[in-house]
Amino acid sequence: MRKEWPGIIEHYRDFLPVLPHTRPVTLLEGGTPLLPLERIPEKLGIKISLFAKIEGQNPTGSFKDRGMTLAVTKAHERGAKALICASTGNTSASAAAYGARAGLKVYVVIPEGKIAKGKLAQAVMHDSVVIQIQGLFDEALQVVREISETHPVALVNSVNPDRLEGQKTVSFEICDFLGHEPTYHFLPVGNAGNITASWMGYREYKMAGKMRELPRMVGVQAEGAAPIVKGHIVEKPETVASAIRIGNPASWQGALKAASESRGEIIALSDERILEAYRMLAREEGVFCEPASAASLAGVIEYARNGRFLSGETVVCTLTGHGLKDPETALSTPHSEIRVPPGKEAVLKVLGFH
Ligand code: F0G
Repeated sequence: MRKEWPGIIEHYRDFLPVLPHTRPVTLLEGGTPLLPLERIPEKLGIKISLFAKIEGQNPTGSFKDRGMTLAVTKAHERGAKALICASTGNTSASAAAYGARAGLKVYVVIPEGKIAKGKLAQAVMHDSVVIQIQGLFDEALQVVREISETHPVALVNSVNPDRLEGQKTVSFEICDFLGHEPTYHFLPVGNAGNITASWMGYREYKMAGKMRELPRMVGVQAEGAAPIVKGHIVEKPETVASAIRIGNPASWQGALKAASESRGEIIALSDERILEAYRMLAREEGVFCEPASAASLAGVIEYARNGRFLSGETVVCTLTGHGLKDPETALSTPHSEIRVPPGKEAVLKVLGFH
């Protein structure tokens, strides 16, 4: 019988800051598919090996579970009784689930009316206390940071170093699966924890002799929420990709460092381009991710159109969250709705069989 995947803490114990007796709070996260995409490169007319790291297949449907298993394990080990986070939706869903698993109280602070319905449903179902603030994610993060400094609640945003330690395992998995490093790694950038952690993972794996070279990291922000690209805080970030609607990322410096050290870059693309990639993944490859996730593929499309890839290069894009989290955006994309009276005839007519 195949051995069950044990979750990222057990699988990568030697690379993580845990003690021999640490008992993971886990939902068996990680071990997500690295899916080859063949139709999209063909459509783009490029000869690269393109892979999607499907992080939407984590237990709560996003990459956040990798960092959350470690952050909650450590908080629990230290005797925390409650967790708190600010979120554009996925962090709160993950914190709520792992908190429930550990028997901890969870408080989540989210921007009112600005998180996708599926994510809100998750926070509610796992019985967290959902606090909607009439402001931005950036303001919510400020509030929870301050509260966690003075009150007995453990902060589980990515400013908590355990979150980044767990999240870095995505790079280990990519290299383990490919047998080498990719040439490029594209990913969406919001609060910039993920690009910081992924870069840390690659560097550590190289130090451990697990790979020879390092990939070039390309972070993609939405044009209306692109503080890193613009070089200044964005006061009123706006984008259809609500997960990355962030004007002042906590790991700003980490993202800049990842881009410069890897000879990569941070770019900004319009919502239109992000939605183009979102639809392309679903229609051409059968992969339904949430809009923010598609920013990574939008980056690949941009590079392809500008002739930036060399034939034979290996390109990975992280698809950070599952499409079902945000059914409203999906249903607002152009599609036909066909309604017919009951009975076979009308259906056959739609099928073109007369
Ligand atoms: N993609 C998705 C689906 C996300 O939820 C996030 C961040 C990102 C990309 C960007 O990752 O912040 O590490 O640069 N979501 C956070 C949240 C902010 O609260 O769920 P990042």
